[in-house]
Amino acid sequence: MLTKRDPRFDLLFEPVRLGPVTAPNRFYQVPHCTGMGYALPETLAAMRAIKAEGGWGVVNTEYCSIHPSSDDMPYPFASLWDDGDVKSMARMAEQVHAHGALAGVELWHGGQRTSNYHSRETALGPESLPTFYGPWQCQKMDAADIKALRSWHRTAALRAKRAGFDLVYVYAGHTYLIAQFLDPATNQRNDQYGGSRENQERLLREIIQDTRDAIGDACAIALRIEVTDEDGGGKEARSALLRSIAPSIDLLDVTVPDYSHEMGASRFVKEASLEAEIAHVREITGKPVVCVGRFTSPETMLSQVKRGIVDLIGAARPSIADPFLPAKIRDGRLDDIRECIGCNVCYAYDASGAPIRCTQNPTMGEEWRRGWHPERVTIAKTREPVLVVGGGPAGLEAALTLGRRGIPVMLAEASNALGGRVTLESRLPGLQEWARVRDWRVHQISKLANVERFLSSRMSRDDCLATGVRHVIVATGSQWRRDGRGLAFPAGVASYADARTATVDDVLRGARPAGAIVVFDDDNYYMGPSIAEALARSGASVTYVTSKGGVGAWMERTFEQGRMHSVLADLGVHIVVNSTVSRLLPGRAEVSCVFTGKTSEIACDAFVPVTSRSPEDDLWIELRSAGLASLSRIGDCKAPGIIAQAVYDGHRAAQMFGETEGSRRERPSVDTIEAAKL
Ligand SMILES: Cc1cc2nc3c(=O)[nH]c(=O)nc-3n(C[C@H](O)[C@H](O)[C@H](O)COP(=O)(O)O)c2cc1C
Ligand code: SF4
Repeated sequence: MLTKRDPRFDLLFEPVRLGPVTAPNRFYQVPHCTGMGYALPETLAAMRAIKAEGGWGVVNTEYCSIHPSSDDMPYPFASLWDDGDVKSMARMAEQVHAHGALAGVELWHGGQRTSNYHSRETALGPESLPTFYGPWQCQKMDAADIKALRSWHRTAALRAKRAGFDLVYVYAGHTYLIAQFLDPATNQRNDQYGGSRENQERLLREIIQDTRDAIGDACAIALRIEVTDEDGGGKEARSALLRSIAPSIDLLDVTVPDYSHEMGASRFVKEASLEAEIAHVREITGKPVVCVGRFTSPETMLSQVKRGIVDLIGAARPSIADPFLPAKIRDGRLDDIRECIGCNVCYAYDASGAPIRCTQNPTMGEEWRRGWHPERVTIAKTREPVLVVGGGPAGLEAALTLGRRGIPVMLAEASNALGGRVTLESRLPGLQEWARVRDWRVHQISKLANVERFLSSRMSRDDCLATGVRHVIVATGSQWRRDGRGLAFPAGVASYADARTATVDDVLRGARPAGAIVVFDDDNYYMGPSIAEALARSGASVTYVTSKGGVGAWMERTFEQGRMHSVLADLGVHIVVNSTVSRLLPGRAEVSCVFTGKTSEIACDAFVPVTSRSPEDDLWIELRSAGLASLSRIGDCKAPGIIAQAVYDGHRAAQMFGETEGSRRERPSVDTIEAAKL
C-alpha cells in the first residue's frame, strides 16, 4: 500500500541541472568500487541497475582506469582501455538509463598509487616516490609522459561518451595522480607542473579542458576533489582553486583527505560529519555540490539541502545497504528504509579483491548471479509451515524472507529478546548503530501476519516435533570458547581452565572484572579490541595481546584499524603484538613471541580469551534423526562468522526453500581484447 509522502520531502525530488544534463532528483550514488569492475561486467551492470530502479537519480561507476599504466590488480577496478571495455561499460550505462537515471563514470589514473601487477608498467608520479604496494618507486613523469597522460584521459573521455555516460569525472582526490600533482608534499617539481601552486594546479586545469574538448556538451563534467591538501592544510589555496575552476565544470563532488573520516565506520564517525569542512564550497563556487556523510535520515538530507550545504545527497554505503532508499522516501515509507550500520564490511570485501557484500543487504552482489532483488522475492509454491529456531541475525532474516514468500513461519527464540549476538554486540562501545540489523528485521516481521514470534522458548527436539512442522531451520548461534582453541592453539590451552578466565559472552552480558586484565586476541577482527576497550572504559588496567602484527588485524580491511589502535592507546591499554598468551600462572600470564617463542610474564587478575567460537548445533544434530521433510542449519550454528555471513545464510535458506539451488557464473571469455597502445 502506498502512503503519500510528506510534502516537505518534495525538495529531495526536484531535478538538478548539471551543465548539459539534468539529474531527475537529488539522490546521487557517488563512485564506489564493487570488487566486480572489468572482471564481472554483467554482475556490475545488474547491481547498478537495481540502484537506478530504487530511485537514485545518478548512478556512478567505481574508479575507472584510463590506461594500463593505472592498473590496480588484484582489485577489480573498472576500465576504459579499449573498445572491449566500451562494450562492458555501455552495459551498465544502458541498464541505468532504463530506469531514468543518469550514468556517471569516474575516470581514474592512480599514478604513484597503482600496483600495475598485471600490466607491469612502471608506476607514474609527479616525482619518484615509493608506491603504496611494495619496496619500489614510481617514475617521475617528464613532459612527454604528461602529454601522453593527457591524451589517455582524453581518449578515455571519448570512450565514456561512446559508452553512453552522461557524466564524466575528473578524479582529483584520494591521493591518486592528479591529487599527487596538486599536493605540495608529493609535488616538489621545478618545472611548469610544480614549484608554485599555479604550476601544481596546471595538470588539473589541462585535464579539465581536455575532457571538455573531448565530450563537448554531450556530458557533464564532475570533479571529485578534497577541500584541503592531504595534510589538512592549504584550505585557502584549495578554495581559490575551486573558485577559479568552477566555471569549467558542472558539479563539485567534494570530500576530505582523511578516508577514515570520509568513509568512517559508525563506531567513530556519525552521519553528516563532513558538513563543517565542506559547507563553504557551494557559496564560493556557485556550482552544484554533492557530498557524502552516510546519509540515511531523510530529515538530515532535507536539512543539508535547505541550508544550502549541498544540492545532491551523495551516498555510497547507504545505497548499498538500501538500493531503494530514495523510492521509500518518495513513497512515504520511511520506516522501511534499511539503514547502513557503518560496519564497512562492504569495503572489506572490495579490499580483498572480492565482490562487495553488505551486512544489511544480503542481495548486494547477487542481483545477476542469483537474480535476487532487494525488495522482491518469489512467492513460494508451498504453504507448508517452517519453524525457525533462533532469533539472531540469521534466524530473523530467514523468518522475514520466508514470511515475505508467503510461508507460515514460527520463530522461536530462547531468550526474552530478539537479535541474538547483534543485541549483545551493539552494546559494545560505539556499536549502537549495529542494532539496526535487528530493529529493521523485527519491524518488517511485525508487518507480516504469517510470521509468529515466540520469545523465552528454548526448543528441545521434542518441542520442535510437538509443533507438528515438517520443516525446521536451526539458527541457534554460537558461544565464545573459554579453552583457547583457535588458530594459535588448535588444541586449546589447559591452564585457561582457571577461575580468572571470563569468556567474551560473559563480558558481553555485563561481566566487568577488575584489576589487571589480559585480553588475548587470536580472532583478530573487532571483538578483541572492543572487549579491551569496554573493560578499559570501565576502569580496568588492560593488556591487549594479539597473535597478529597490529590491533584487530582484519580491521585494516574495514578501514578501522588505525583509529581502533588510537582508541586503545588513548585509553592506556598496553598493546602487545605478535604474541600469544601461552599459559596462565598464579597471578600472572605468560606471553610468548609468535616468532621466537621467547616468553615473559605480565600481571593477570582476570583473563579474556578471544580465540574462536563453538557452534551451538546440538539441536540440529538431535533433529537429524527425527524424520523431518527438511532440516537445515544457518549462520553461526553452522559456521561462526561475521554478521554479514549470518544474514546472507538466513536469506539464502529462505530464498531456496522449496526451490532448486542454483546460480549463474560470469567468467572472462576467450574473445581477444584489443591491446591498448602504450
Ligand atoms: C566499498 C566502497 C568502495 C569505494 N570505492 C570508491 C571509488 O572507487 N572511488 C571513489 O571516489 N570513492 C570510493 N569510495 C568512497 C565513497 O565514494 C564515499 O566517499 C564514502 O563511502 C563515503 O560515503 P558514504 O558515507 O555515503 O558511504 C568507496 C566506498 C566504499 C564503501
Ligand atoms: S556492509 Fe555495513 S557499512 Fe557497508 S553498506 Fe552494508 S551496512 Fe553499510
